[in-house]
Amino acid sequence: MTNAVTMPKILELKALKKYYPIPGRVLGREKSTVKALDGIDLDIYRGECLGLVGESGCGKTTLGKVIVRLHDPTSGQLYYYGDGRRPSDPVEIAQAKRSALKKHGIRGRLQMVFQDPTTSLNPRMLVKHIIAEPIKTQARLGGRELEDRVMALLTMVGLTRDHLLRYPHEFSGGQRQRIAVARAIATEPEFIVLDEPTSALDVSVQSQILNLLKSLQQTLHLTFLFVTHHLLVIRYVSNRVAVMYLGKIMEIAGTEDIFHRPLHPYTHALLSAIPLPDVKHKQRRMVLAGDVPSPVHPPLGCRFHTRCPFAVDRCRREEPLLEAVTTAHRVACHRKHAVEALTVEKSDRR
Ligand SMILES: Nc1ncnc2c1ncn2[C@@H]1O[C@H](COP(=O)(O)OP(=O)(O)OP(=O)(O)O)[C@@H](O)[C@H]1O
Ligand code: SF4
Ligand SMILES: [Mg+2]
Repeated sequence: MTNAVTMPKILELKALKKYYPIPGRVLGREKSTVKALDGIDLDIYRGECLGLVGESGCGKTTLGKVIVRLHDPTSGQLYYYGDGRRPSDPVEIAQAKRSALKKHGIRGRLQMVFQDPTTSLNPRMLVKHIIAEPIKTQARLGGRELEDRVMALLTMVGLTRDHLLRYPHEFSGGQRQRIAVARAIATEPEFIVLDEPTSALDVSVQSQILNLLKSLQQTLHLTFLFVTHHLLVIRYVSNRVAVMYLGKIMEIAGTEDIFHRPLHPYTHALLSAIPLPDVKHKQRRMVLAGDVPSPVHPPLGCRFHTRCPFAVDRCRREEPLLEAVTTAHRVACHRKHAVEALTVEKSDRR
């Protein structure tokens, strides 16, 4: 598998935050916010598939939406490294106005595919118009050229000419997701957020869509941020995995390192919930007790301390930084070495 970290960066996130205001105001008190992203530092490398996992509500979709600027971040920076030709000259897009994004042609370069194609596709539009719409806006093609481009995209996702004049409701779930993928690649993006792209589909078609995405990634030299709850899917598609908890990244590493040498107790707990016959840990079961705390008032210190069996006093006082244990493996935990000693078999260490 490619070592993604040796590739050039395509995106660099620095202290990225997204706070959603809660409607209504309490007199004399500061307005409350949902801290969906609470300081994300992350590099994404050209050509990789970066998996993003974490419990419901931890901020995965928000991160995707902020990166492609469907939502505006509250603060922080987001650097986009062009089309790879000028690595020393990134464009800052977190604070950029929408008109500037359009001017630099960045809008179509960053795309997103959602979990449920039924709601993401306009039910009143024919497939040919659904796919043609972004091409008309971004590439300003028309007439025969536009028709040829739509047809080529449809073929790329495994659909045929017969499908052009149908509405979304006339397709199966898997076919609808193929249409959503065709629309996402219509603007010749470099980077796509795939937000649970197979979770709403029958198990029988999930692998077809995963294989389609993998093959498109190769052919079109795409970079993916792949969001899912399914760790086995992540293992199948990703080069690296980022583990998120309550608006923060807790651990990030190459996929096999995450599965064989998880250093954060939260990663360990997520992994111990699924059967992995080839992965041995001293402490196989670590059941996560309780719910995720509210993102309106995340716990002080380490935000995982209310559920962490390894927590000590320091964890309640001091927030751990995301620190490198190797060039490719970073963890935010004060006790990572103690956790490793207790959870990873000596024979498994690399
Ligand atoms: N538009 C919004 N307005 C207000 N709060 C929001 C909005 N979108 C998301 N949130 C809140 O931000 C937090 C993160 O939500 P998000 O959808 O990013 O989580 P997620 O990790 O994608 O969850 P899931 O796995 O269930 O899809 C949640 O507490 C959610 O309620
Ligand atoms: S810093 Fe402390 S509470 Fe947080 S994960 Fe590590 S041991 Fe657990
Ligand atoms: Mg989501």
